[in-house]
Amino acid sequence: MISQNTIQEILSRIDILDVVGEFVKLKKRGANYLGLCPFHNEKTPSFTVSPSKEIYKCFGCGKSGNSISFIMEHEKYSYVESLKWLAHKYGIEVEETFASAEQREQYQTADSLFIINNFAEQFFSAALKESEEGRAIGLSYFKERGFREGIIEKFRLGYAPMERDAFTKEALAKQYNKDLLLKTGLVAERNGTLQDNYRGRVIFPVHNHSGKVMGFGARILKTTDRAPKYINTPENEIYVKSKILYGSYFARTAIEKADECLLVEGYTDVVSLHQAGIENVVASGGTSLTVDQLRLIKKYTSNLTIIYDGDAAGIKAALRGLDLALEESLNVKLVLIPDKEDPDSYVNKVGAGAFTEFIKKNKKDFILFQLESSLNDIGEDPAKKSELVNKIAESISRINKAEDFTKQQDYIKESAAILKIDEAGLHALVNKYIRDKVTALERKAMNNAADTEQNAMEAAVSNYDDATFDLLFKDQLQEKELARILLEYGNRLWDEHTLIAQHVFDEVDELEIEDPEVNRLITTIKLLLRSNPEQLTDKYFIYNEDKKLSAFAVSLLNHPYEESERWAADFSPNTGYQKDLFRQSFEAFSRVISKGNETDLNRYKLISEDRTNQKVESAIQYLKLKKIRRMLLQNQDDMSGPLSDHKFKELHFIHKSLKDMEREITNILGMVIVN
Ligand code: GTP
Ligand code: MN
Repeated sequence: MISQNTIQEILSRIDILDVVGEFVKLKKRGANYLGLCPFHNEKTPSFTVSPSKEIYKCFGCGKSGNSISFIMEHEKYSYVESLKWLAHKYGIEVEETFASAEQREQYQTADSLFIINNFAEQFFSAALKESEEGRAIGLSYFKERGFREGIIEKFRLGYAPMERDAFTKEALAKQYNKDLLLKTGLVAERNGTLQDNYRGRVIFPVHNHSGKVMGFGARILKTTDRAPKYINTPENEIYVKSKILYGSYFARTAIEKADECLLVEGYTDVVSLHQAGIENVVASGGTSLTVDQLRLIKKYTSNLTIIYDGDAAGIKAALRGLDLALEESLNVKLVLIPDKEDPDSYVNKVGAGAFTEFIKKNKKDFILFQLESSLNDIGEDPAKKSELVNKIAESISRINKAEDFTKQQDYIKESAAILKIDEAGLHALVNKYIRDKVTALERKAMNNAADTEQNAMEAAVSNYDDATFDLLFKDQLQEKELARILLEYGNRLWDEHTLIAQHVFDEVDELEIEDPEVNRLITTIKLLLRSNPEQLTDKYFIYNEDKKLSAFAVSLLNHPYEESERWAADFSPNTGYQKDLFRQSFEAFSRVISKGNETDLNRYKLISEDRTNQKVESAIQYLKLKKIRRMLLQNQDDMSGPLSDHKFKELHFIHKSLKDMEREITNILGMVIVN
């Protein structure tokens, strides 16, 4: 955790023009500054920065915030990471309160490794371009593969000379510490002397998403050798294989703009596609995808397209981790490149246009792909078919975010059709898996309850590491979603005489919210509603003098689980429920207008063509559903003991009523979203 002193110092030094100016070219327009918005594609500037108010706003895409939220949004950093970035920019030393000595040492090691790697990247690059050996061997190899100067420069490709200790010598001359050099994997100790680990290989530096060098992939030139084709950096403080996506630094803007991430296997696939102008592409290194990698992708887009060569081994490896993608609300598509080609060779063969066209035409949904190919494998064997039905139900049950209910329904429908089984039956089976999972989670939560405090402590110390955070607070995500809705839409109209915030409180007051931060926000909003409802805006919270509240608001508004704009845009106002809402709002609006004078409500924005009310409804119902499921579990537990007949009947009745409520809510959720 960063100390309050440091935070205060950072806040006092921030100059929004300076911060935004690092990424956007700004021109003065009156009191404000204007530039091209970094968050969406535009040709005429609509991105405005107000130095006096210390905020930015884009009139094109609507994004707005302060310096910290800008860094969070632009760099996809957490709140803490953003503060660190700012501290670094202003040369402020970060004082960590909770960090243990051990942790501080880890940070220092990490910093040193980055420095050595940066030096190594320059060394290999110079060796490639400036030495005779490098040009004759390394550069000519790249040229042979069709890599041009520009792309070699962009990816900072390099060459490691054959000499036994070319790099080691220079690194030692620079006084780099021996243990650290060994840690980078660039140097190895053989027979008591330090030598280069990569010799006569071409070098692919691996950058993290802000462009720092985490490690290297070193490719052998002749495949005849028995040595491994690639030597990669060993795991260390900064090279954590499960979190690496090669190319993410170069691809991130393109991924965001295309709202799609292409995933390939190898370094060379990434480089070649970039060279062809297809830049929204990263590589996983040929292993199965990890949750961390999926989350990294999810920061930029919800649409993942996996491009693999037709050979089954690679595909199997990639698919292994993919059920996880569903839990991360990613839409995963799959494309197989024609036989004997890989993305690198294929794009070189057919060109960028045909490649893109091929991807577009051959994308298959990953669940349905899996289903179809398994179905082909098993034929008519009923036992195997029932196994497959269970497998697919389990997969579908993993789609568990409120906003994904449509997707779940669609999968059930399509899978039932492919399997030629009853849709309602599959529905029930999926629900069973959802229940099983809730039970398992509940049990785990119970077991963990004792050391919750310990856990919270660890989470704080690890700087809100995303993975830990999710693990510990998964249940709270829904509560946070509700808080976000209150912040963002609380001051819009639910119906002609209620604000959304009021409606939410009417509905969820009897559901206890567990997250203390969410509770605090709710308390504040309630007070506001009673005293100064016109102040109820996200700005009020973002700039709240209560720094904790403000930090919480900023983090909520930048939450990665936020629904994508595109999804919302896909929703047309012409269907049943939406039409009703539209009509209601319209009528309310007309009523307000026809009164002619200021009424209490007419200063609030009316929702019309957007899906706000549905989001609100979903979030509320989802929390209710959770509560009911919890009660169901409790009741089941109660029923499992020895019981009198009377008691059993009573509990059984409760069970049935809860079941009915559960069904009703599932229906509402289905209806609200589907229609
Ligand atoms: P080219 O064959 O030169 O086109 O390279 P490529 O990057 O396409 O490699 P390939 O398709 O053979 O493998 C895909 C990815 O798997 C590589 O980019 C590496 O990340 C990884 N990989 C391949 N071979 C090895 C190896 O021998 N050792 C390790 N550690 N990783 C490897
Ligand atoms: Mn290849």
